[in-house]
Amino acid sequence: MQPPHLLLFLPLLLPGMWADPEAEPQVLQYLLTGLFADMTSAEVSAMAVLGDVPIFALDPANWSVHFHWPWVSQAAAEGDTKKLMSQSQIALRNVVRYVHDKVQQTEMDYPLVVQIRAGCELYPNTSSWGFLRVREGGKDLVAFEVDEECWEMQQPSQLAEQVSRDLNRKTSIKVLLEHLLSFICQSQIRTLNKYGRATLERQELPVATV
Ligand SMILES: *[C@@H]1O[C@H](CO)[C@@H](O)[C@H](O)[C@H]1NC(C)=O
Ligand SMILES: *[C@@H]1O[C@H](CO)[C@@H](O)[C@H](O)[C@H]1NC(C)=O
Repeated sequence: MQPPHLLLFLPLLLPGMWADPEAEPQVLQYLLTGLFADMTSAEVSAMAVLGDVPIFALDPANWSVHFHWPWVSQAAAEGDTKKLMSQSQIALRNVVRYVHDKVQQTEMDYPLVVQIRAGCELYPNTSSWGFLRVREGGKDLVAFEVDEECWEMQQPSQLAEQVSRDLNRKTSIKVLLEHLLSFICQSQIRTLNKYGRATLERQELPVATV
């Protein structure tokens, strides 16, 4: 969670940036938390935010999607969103299965909390930066380096080593993630801006007041 928040508050720290609020990147984030209580259960909650504005949330009971604003469903009707959503549910099921398998293989103890933060920052110069980080037990475990299309360990542990090795074997998933976190993510930000401009502008920090 830290980098985007730091970015939001950066203008407060750097007086030179006050003059140009337009220069701030827009950050779209997908935040997912999985609580694995025992070997048969997983409670997954997920949400998406653009800056500080909630976009949608996943119902933990049945993984159905709740849009926070009417314009989000308009935005979702554009492009391949429907297809992406059904594929995300399959991906989510695979993630849950992988976590349980990993716990068994490594004889880790339940309960376990896994957090995933993925998304992208879109800069005013139209370039974007994608990110995907996985945390386990509140500590960074592995991260996906979008440009290099590879997973890197974020802690010197056997678990981080095994997980990054497992994930690095899945070439087609790495290619897909690169596409999602760069091209698809930035086009989602543009579409959300198109339909939700009024809401998104209202929620901006009052940077012009000093
Ligand atoms: C999912 O569960 C919620 C209650 O938790 C309910 O309101 C909603 O209708 C359900 N959606 C589907 C598609 O079953
Ligand atoms: C766009 O802006 C970002 C952030 O200021 C910078 O890191 C990046 O290099 C720029 N890209 C181009 C193509 O100028």
